[in-house]
Amino acid sequence: MRSIRVKGKSPLKGVFSLPGDKSISHRAVMLGAIANGLTEVNGFATGEDCAHTVKALQSLGVDITPANPPPSRGAKLIIEGRGLHGLKKADEIINAGNSGTTIRILLGILAGQPFQTCITGDESLKRRPMRRVTEPLVKMGARISGRNGANFAPLTIEGGVLRPIPHVSPIPSAQVKSAVLLAGLYADGKTQVTEPLLSRDHTERMLRYFGAEISIEEWTIAIKGGQELEGKKFNIPGDISAASFFITAAAIIPDSNIKVSSAGVNPTRTRFIDILQKAGAKIKLSHSKEELFEPVADITVEGSEVNPLKIGADDIPGLQDEVPVLAVAGAVIGGETTIRGARELRVKESDRIKSLATNLSRLGADVEELEDGLSIRGGKPLVGCEVDSFGDHRIAMAMVIAGLMADGETTVLNTDCIDTSFPEFIDTIKMLAPAVEIRGHNT
Ligand code: S3P
Repeated sequence: MRSIRVKGKSPLKGVFSLPGDKSISHRAVMLGAIANGLTEVNGFATGEDCAHTVKALQSLGVDITPANPPPSRGAKLIIEGRGLHGLKKADEIINAGNSGTTIRILLGILAGQPFQTCITGDESLKRRPMRRVTEPLVKMGARISGRNGANFAPLTIEGGVLRPIPHVSPIPSAQVKSAVLLAGLYADGKTQVTEPLLSRDHTERMLRYFGAEISIEEWTIAIKGGQELEGKKFNIPGDISAASFFITAAAIIPDSNIKVSSAGVNPTRTRFIDILQKAGAKIKLSHSKEELFEPVADITVEGSEVNPLKIGADDIPGLQDEVPVLAVAGAVIGGETTIRGARELRVKESDRIKSLATNLSRLGADVEELEDGLSIRGGKPLVGCEVDSFGDHRIAMAMVIAGLMADGETTVLNTDCIDTSFPEFIDTIKMLAPAVEIRGHNT
């Protein structure tokens, strides 16, 4: 098990680009697989999570080139779509690894297949709740079994022609929404999903780009079954969640000055930028353009005084993956930062509320764990020590960022998980802060 040691403080300076967006990459493979014709994507995500999606679709009979995509920046992937009804029964159990997006969205497609599939994941994924997806899919007619009433992987699923349903999701979740919409392609009639707040909308945008007609009325999306998708060619924008570690750190470390080129700036993903800007951070978007179906922009950040952050339930769907790094920022910024309405964070790759409260307290921050968030009285100097990733990539990266702002040496244990989403994370920090001593991991 690898670990990372960080010693020394430094502003962040430099220009960098990002690996392809993870959420969009997953969807490109899944929609490409059930579309007609070729889908060609440039800039596929480099992390292990998306490689699991590629392998899963290959097991279901889809030809994807290269067969083993190297985790290299800018990789091109060609997916030979098999049409809505062309997937084949897998010979093996599908392994989604650490990826909630792979298992949950793929279940939506598998619900429409007239054969049985067994899907599982790593120890963390096997503890994450699946009923939010399996329940509506069972209502649509899929047969799904698994521990605790089909709530935990491994899951076995078999489906076919489905019944359309109106699904009202109690939580805003892009994975739930996407699973039900994709199952809706296999339903006999109109399937509808309503969520309490808008979650990321990459599936809706990509479905339209692939030629499906969907209707969107506020937070209700409807799709008619039987619509054929057409394979497409496109670039995957840079991953804004990967960028968030550097954007947030640069915004609060004096004398920082960074530029991120061609980042995805879909408004359902950029709430962390809005929150930081509202608190006085100097973050600017330039060269914004709509690239086919997702907006991209260059982002420049200058270090400045930033006020404490106020994050409420309405903000969470737009920044939930950024909470770990925002909490680190809250510990550094003077004044009280509050994060509320974030109960969902307890069922991510780790219980992120607990992981953050434990690690930030160890680093000397004054932090209170709330049932649905954190209250952080920031401004006390962070003191380097040993912290754990709890096997969660975003906790690991947020703690490395904390190490950049702590006195002395910080050791982040159990950092293999970083490779699930952002294998180039450490190299990027080294480039932006060459004066900081960073040892371990792949260095
Ligand atoms: C994702 C949706 C989010 C997010 C996850 C990726 C997606 O989860 O946390 O990292 O690609 O659909 P929700 O299903 O809670 O929205």
